[in-house]
Amino acid sequence: MRQVVLVWFALILTAGATHAGQPLDIVIYGATGEVGSYIVDEALDRGHRVTAVSRRPEQVDLQHDNLTIVKGDLLDKDSVTEIVTGQDVVILSVRGVIGDSGLPESALQFIAAEMLVDVLFRQEDRAPRLIHVGGAGSLEVEPGVLFAEKLPKILLPKNLEVEILGQILALEFYRKVDDVRWTYVTPPKSFTNGPRTGDFRIGGERALEDDRGRTRVSRADFAVALINEAERAQRVRRQFSVAY
Ligand SMILES: NC(=O)c1ccc[n+]([C@@H]2O[C@H](COP(=O)([O-])OP(=O)(O)OC[C@H]3O[C@@H](n4cnc5c(N)ncnc54)[C@H](OP(=O)(O)O)[C@@H]3O)[C@@H](O)[C@H]2O)c1
Repeated sequence: MRQVVLVWFALILTAGATHAGQPLDIVIYGATGEVGSYIVDEALDRGHRVTAVSRRPEQVDLQHDNLTIVKGDLLDKDSVTEIVTGQDVVILSVRGVIGDSGLPESALQFIAAEMLVDVLFRQEDRAPRLIHVGGAGSLEVEPGVLFAEKLPKILLPKNLEVEILGQILALEFYRKVDDVRWTYVTPPKSFTNGPRTGDFRIGGERALEDDRGRTRVSRADFAVALINEAERAQRVRRQFSVAY
């Protein structure tokens, strides 16, 4: 009897530790990318089990006991469904433009957002959370004015303009989604290759400026903020921004 009570007590203690400390199963689309590769490193360093997705998995040379590398394409809905099923969190950190319509709807960031929401919606209570790496163009720089509206369009490469507008469209789409647990994490205007400091600010829909008027963060610190959200789920169905 005493043994049964002890086992029961140990089980309660373990359950209590679940949300605070247990490793998560995290799938990362864009794991080979400039931003996504930092997210992979941060998640692995914190003991999570990571599934890195790439259209060409042979290009991933990282090895880690908690890392699984799988072949996958966001344009293949069946493969996406298979890959995300049973995961705790799906991270979307991709870029691309599909076709040559020149419309924001052709940005992969928007296409993938729509498709993943549909896949996750169908999984109901079992669906993982979705964390989308967004675009700074969606941040307000003054009341009612987005950073994207201030960009000199004439100087922007066409595909970049499509992606910037596609990111805004993705956010507008998410804002209407209340049956999937999404979060839109917005980088500042500039990413740096600086070190992981763990020292940054979290903002909302407004661009955060430092005392010299710059809005920037290192990719390593951005990854810290993103994995914090993966672990804590503090900003579900919200946009938040990260900057020094
Ligand atoms: N200041 C800003 O606002 C700012 C600046 C930079 C980036 N970003 C955002 O950050 C995110 C990541 O950007 P990045 O610079 O890291 O991009 P990147 O280095 O160009 O990497 C793009 C990633 O997209 C993946 N990808 C492309 N097409 C795919 C498909 N059909 N299926 C699955 N994966 C696909 C690629 O994976 P494989 O080739 O391995 O398949 C690659 O890992 C984007 O959303 C971008 O808009 C924002």
